[in-house]
Amino acid sequence: MMAASDAAAFLTYTTKALYLDDGEMAVIDPEGVTISSFVNGERKTKPVYEINWQPGEESKGAHRHYMHKEIHEQPDSCTNTMRGRMLPKEGLVKLGGLEEVADRLRGANNLIITSCGTSYYAALYGEYLLEEYAEIPVSCELSSEFRYRDAPMDEKTAVLAISQSGETIDTLEAVREAKRHGALSLGLVNVVGSTIARETDAGVYLHAGPEIGVASTKAFTSELVALNLLALFLGRQRRLSPSQAREILEGLEETPDLMRKVLAQEDKIVFLVDKYIEAENYLFLGRSYQYPIALEGALKLKEISYRHAEGYAAGEMKHGPIALVDPHFPTVALIPQSSTYEKMWNNIEEIKARRGTVIAVASQGDPQIATLADDVFYVPKIPEPLAPLLTVIPLQLFAYHLAERLNREIDQPRNLAKSVTVE
Ligand code: M6R
Repeated sequence: MMAASDAAAFLTYTTKALYLDDGEMAVIDPEGVTISSFVNGERKTKPVYEINWQPGEESKGAHRHYMHKEIHEQPDSCTNTMRGRMLPKEGLVKLGGLEEVADRLRGANNLIITSCGTSYYAALYGEYLLEEYAEIPVSCELSSEFRYRDAPMDEKTAVLAISQSGETIDTLEAVREAKRHGALSLGLVNVVGSTIARETDAGVYLHAGPEIGVASTKAFTSELVALNLLALFLGRQRRLSPSQAREILEGLEETPDLMRKVLAQEDKIVFLVDKYIEAENYLFLGRSYQYPIALEGALKLKEISYRHAEGYAAGEMKHGPIALVDPHFPTVALIPQSSTYEKMWNNIEEIKARRGTVIAVASQGDPQIATLADDVFYVPKIPEPLAPLLTVIPLQLFAYHLAERLNREIDQPRNLAKSVTVE
């Protein structure tokens, strides 16, 4: 008989993995998988889930923290999210997990996206994208609120749950609520075989690989990529022409290389952290596709550095937060080339007029921003809807290096758990 630890090791080095509960042993051979009880030898049947994680992915390698490793893995994790799913020449996206429900999706009247924390910010990004590409009415709901509301839903509603872990209790309960109303439930999940993946009618796996740091990084960017794929899938069903889809797919294909260029500028972030180390409070501002990234930048900073940060839609500045601005309260302003560039510029001018300091995240080839902001971090030029995949990286690195300078418990921040399985 194989010891449980040996059986677990054996399973780790196979391409197919099974849940191994206490008292059960799994044997994998070319004929299939047999699970039997250690206690009475009785055979059991369990579902099999294919996991594309490789042995060693769960180690820190040369990095001091999992979070640092996971930030640097993003070009590869995003590539894995795209792999085998894009046909740029045809302007098509293939999502095997949605094939069975494609007709129901085509007939859906609206889409509700529900999630928590970082995954909720991905949902907000998805709202802009799905409305632009697929012209489907979208609303985003925090799962912890949605599950207790009486939101109108029926069989013509699609509800998409986004969750790295697939185990977040509020998101799971939101899915169950949607199903009780007869809505089509979809999952966008990283962990294969997780509860949300099993309970939704259909879905798309992120394939980002194991994310161990409590602060989500690579799962977030994979969520953004998967939302692009979903928006293209629905877009082609509804309004996007093959050539429009092709252009977006080509942009997506280039993104991992551009992410590498951003990561290569990590020393600039170390310099900025040094400069702003005394600041106790930060404001993050963005508009349109950059608004969810402002929220995510503030959350990352709070989670691991324990410094106070607020994320805001820049257009809301005048409605309150501008009162906070003073020389000791830096603003991180997301201002890549976009349709809202001029508006963001005006917001930065308003902050500067009140003697605030501004760190701008801007596009390469924009020399004028350096005449306005105190510091600028440049990211490569990219189509506007894809820019969040680049602008979020300096924010992740800023939070990471600030937390490191402050000697925080980066991978296991105080009071936080990787998945929130109780209310
Ligand atoms: O596993 P999920 O994506 O459902 O988790 C949702 C949130 O708990 C999670 O994103 C949390 O906000 C992270 N710690 C953010 O870094």
